[in-house]
Amino acid sequence: MKRIILTGDRPTGNLHLGHYVGSLRNRVLLQEEGNYDEMYVFIADTQALTDNFKNPKKVRDNIIEVALDYLSVGIDPEKVTIFIQSMIPELCELTMYYMNLVTLSRLERNPTVKEELKQKDFSNSIPVGFLNYPISQTADITAFEANVIPVGDDQLPMIEQAREIVRSFNNIYGDTLVEPSPLVSSNKFCSRLPGIDGKAKMSKSLGNCIYLKDDSETVKKKVMSMYTDPNHLRVEDPGNTKDNTVFIYLEALVTDEHFKKYLPSYKNLNELKTHYEKGGLGDVIVKRFLYDVIEDTLRPIREKRKYYENNVDLVYNILKDGSKKARTRAINTLNKVKKAMLINYFEGEKDER
Ligand code: TRP
Repeated sequence: MKRIILTGDRPTGNLHLGHYVGSLRNRVLLQEEGNYDEMYVFIADTQALTDNFKNPKKVRDNIIEVALDYLSVGIDPEKVTIFIQSMIPELCELTMYYMNLVTLSRLERNPTVKEELKQKDFSNSIPVGFLNYPISQTADITAFEANVIPVGDDQLPMIEQAREIVRSFNNIYGDTLVEPSPLVSSNKFCSRLPGIDGKAKMSKSLGNCIYLKDDSETVKKKVMSMYTDPNHLRVEDPGNTKDNTVFIYLEALVTDEHFKKYLPSYKNLNELKTHYEKGGLGDVIVKRFLYDVIEDTLRPIREKRKYYENNVDLVYNILKDGSKKARTRAINTLNKVKKAMLINYFEGEKDER
C-alpha cells in the first residue's frame, strides 16, 4: 500500500515552539527519511474560518505567516506539496457527501470539539460550520488518500471520527476511501508543550508562547521569566523538575551535544536534574542554558525566514503551485466518490467548471 502523509495547521497566528516540538520537527524528519509516496502539508483556512468567520483578515494575514514558518523550519516544497485548503473546492463537495454519514450527537460527543466549545462560549448558538469541522477534516484527509497523519494528542478524536466516516462510506458505497492512522510523537514531553507561564498549553490566546520568529532578545526575556518550581526559593533548596516548565522544555529540546557546547560541567539532562533535585543549583543557570538551547534551535530557522521574507513572491508561487497540484489529486478522489455514489452522470465529458 502507498504511504501518503498529510497534515495541516489553522492560520490563526504564527507557529510557536509547541508546534515545533509537537509536529513541525517531526514533519521535517519524515520528509528527510523519504519513506513515503506523497506528502502534503496544508494551511487550513477553511477550518480556521469556522471559528473566525467574523475575522477574515486575521486568517488572510496568517496564510503567509504560516507558509513562512513552514519554509523556515525546513519543509521543502520540492519534496512536500504545500497548499491552501480553500483553493481545493472539491474538499467542500466531499464534506457535503460525508455529512450524511454522521449524526449530530456524534459531532457533539467529539472530545476536541467539546473542549473547544467550552472555551469559545458560543452558548446556545453554535454555528453549524464549526460543529461540522471534523467532517471537513475527514475530507481533507481522504481527498489525498492519506493514511499517515502526524498530529498532536488533541487531534486523535478527529482521526478517530475520520476512520468512522471512511468505514461507513465504504460499507454503504463499496470500498473507495482509505482509512487514516494518526502518527504521534514518541517523546511524551513533545505532545503538548506547556506555556512559559506553566499553563497546560502554549497558546496564542493565553499569551504564553515562544514564537519561531521571535528575536533573540524576546526569547531571552521570555525564558528568564519562565515558571519553574515555586518552592525552589533559595539555591540550596531541593527543587522539583517534574512540573517545572524549564525542565519540560529541556526534555523536549536538549541533546548531549548541547551540554558539551554550553554547560560542560554536566554530561546530560539526568545529571542536571539530579543536581537540581538535590539542591544547590539555581534557576538562573538552568534558564541561561535553556536559552542557549532554544537559540541553537531557532537561529537557523530565523535565517531561513529572512530569506523567504525577502522573496515573498516565491512563497506565493510555492502556495499556488502546491494548490494546483493538490487539486488534481483531490479531483481524482472526488470522481471515485461520485462514481461510488452513482452521481457520476456525464463521466468522460469535460468538466465545465
Ligand atoms: N485541526 C488541525 C489543527 O487544529 C488542522 C487540520 C485541518 C488538520 N485539517 C487537518 C490536521 C487534516 C491533520 C489533518 O491543528
